[in-house]
Amino acid sequence: MNSFLERLQSYRERVNHRLIEALPNPYSETIFLHAAMRYSLTAGGKRVRPALVYATGEALALDFPCLDSIACAIEIIHTYSLIHDDLPAMDDDDLRRGQPTCHKKYDEATAILAGDALQALAFEILCESEGIPPQTRLHLISALARASGHAGMAYGQAIDLACVGKTLELAQLEHMHQHKTGALIQASVIMPALCVPGISTALIEKLDTYACAIGLAFQIVDDILDIVSDTSTLGKQQGADQARDKPTYPALLGLEGAQKHALEMHEQALASLAELPQQFDVLREFSSYIIQRSY
Ligand code: IPE
Ligand code: IPE
Ligand code: MG
Ligand code: MG
Ligand code: MG
Repeated sequence: MNSFLERLQSYRERVNHRLIEALPNPYSETIFLHAAMRYSLTAGGKRVRPALVYATGEALALDFPCLDSIACAIEIIHTYSLIHDDLPAMDDDDLRRGQPTCHKKYDEATAILAGDALQALAFEILCESEGIPPQTRLHLISALARASGHAGMAYGQAIDLACVGKTLELAQLEHMHQHKTGALIQASVIMPALCVPGISTALIEKLDTYACAIGLAFQIVDDILDIVSDTSTLGKQQGADQARDKPTYPALLGLEGAQKHALEMHEQALASLAELPQQFDVLREFSSYIIQRSY
């Protein structure tokens, strides 16, 4: 696990450099849009999705430079989703990663616009990704659009908000999580796979099953950490999901049940990679990291 954590750190450093290069510089003292985009994008995210892009790319023997645009585009969409997730109309959070949320640091309108502009920037990056053939770029753009829009993250967020105060069945909860969090995590695995010329449908399916399982595990752990971590580790209000009566795994299954379910997802992820060679170990370790993470 130690060498995996070092690898994770090197993925983080790589994407951090690329993200800084991709950001527009603040160019006005009165318009805070660019500053707000930079603030949220550089505020200390774990970079799980870009790391997963690089890990998948390594397993598939892809060149790192062709993965950079994918890693940046997904992280930028993720950042936009969090800025909007924190808004008063959604989760109404004042803190993210231990710092004021974008709308608290700036104002609501600036936060909304920073999210909008980040979303557009992600697609601009994919359109302009040199080193990826134009046809593949189109596939990537389409995959990211699906993962983030009406059939992906945005849909999942809509379900999340519509379900406040309701008790969901396990299948409904899974459906929500698969969209709100799973879709972007799935894209982090499938987008690199789309860059492999002639990749078999069988391999895509295995990777897709893997990504689905770790996507769910990731949100289950997010829900668990909301309860068990204190505010200083969590970087936001502890117990916020409970306070808002959010539908979560611990709410439905209890803490232990949720932990057990995360482990089952990890086992499912490993099972989907069972026939794949050693070079896929990086993805096996990634799945372990997801269920063991403490922040
Ligand atoms: C938090 O995502 C929101 C979810 C989708 C669960 P992360 O835990 O990846 O957030 P950061 O970017 O590392 O802060
Ligand atoms: C956020 O889920 C999911 C997306 C932004 C798509 P949460 O609302 O659970 O994330 P946190 O707990 O605020 O990070
Ligand atoms: Mg939310
Ligand atoms: Mg939230
Ligand atoms: Mg949460």
